[in-house]
Amino acid sequence: MRDRTLIKRFFNHLFLFLMNKKEELDIIAGEVSKCALCPLSKSRTNTVPGSGDPDADILFVGEAPGEKEDLAGIPFCGAAGKFLDEMLASIGLTREKVFILNTVKCRPPGNRDPEDTEKEACKSYLNRQLEIIKPKLIVCLGRHSCNTFIPAAGGISKLHGKAVKRPNGQVYFALYHPAAALHNGGLRGTLMDDFKKVPAVLKKIKEQETKGNIKPDNDDKPIQTKLI
Ligand code: URA
Ligand code: SF4
Repeated sequence: MRDRTLIKRFFNHLFLFLMNKKEELDIIAGEVSKCALCPLSKSRTNTVPGSGDPDADILFVGEAPGEKEDLAGIPFCGAAGKFLDEMLASIGLTREKVFILNTVKCRPPGNRDPEDTEKEACKSYLNRQLEIIKPKLIVCLGRHSCNTFIPAAGGISKLHGKAVKRPNGQVYFALYHPAAALHNGGLRGTLMDDFKKVPAVLKKIKEQETKGNIKPDNDDKPIQTKLI
């Protein structure tokens, strides 16, 4: 019996090893589509697992799907998404060349903030997606996304436009949320200026990689707010 379990486990691992990134991400999207781990499952129309290039260097993490996203199953396809597309174009990118996802995959009713328990319930999907895509740079859009990845680094008003490298070598870049900038005209220019720094941050990461400057995995240490 134990032998059979071991054999099954071996073939499961072999299967995962042979799959490409797209297939692995599709498996997660399939699990998400049936997920009932938190109450957001009850009010959603569609799940919004995320989309883009599985080999992208840059991955954007927003907050949660809104009404349009819930109807289409695609992240950032409403007004905030249009603004995001414009900012991507301003640095010579399209959404097909990056990866875009959210901290939770189902729309909170009435676009309320996702609750901590909901973000926690959804986190394993997010972590697995990041593990597969392995982006060089994670861009955190807004407070929720920043708090998920760089909570100790001190709030978005202090952090926006800055790159933070964690002890595991992963670099995060904090930005105001495009929807916040649409509602508050004062943030719009700041967000657009910050966004234009993204290519330089990526370039620096690549230079550091070539120099072998990335630290070994050591994610249990507290966050260092070391700016690159
Ligand atoms: N806002 C988000 O944070 N994510 C989306 O997908 C759309 C709007
Ligand atoms: Fe599951 Fe995440 Fe949707 Fe909650 S938000 S039901 S954890 S997929």
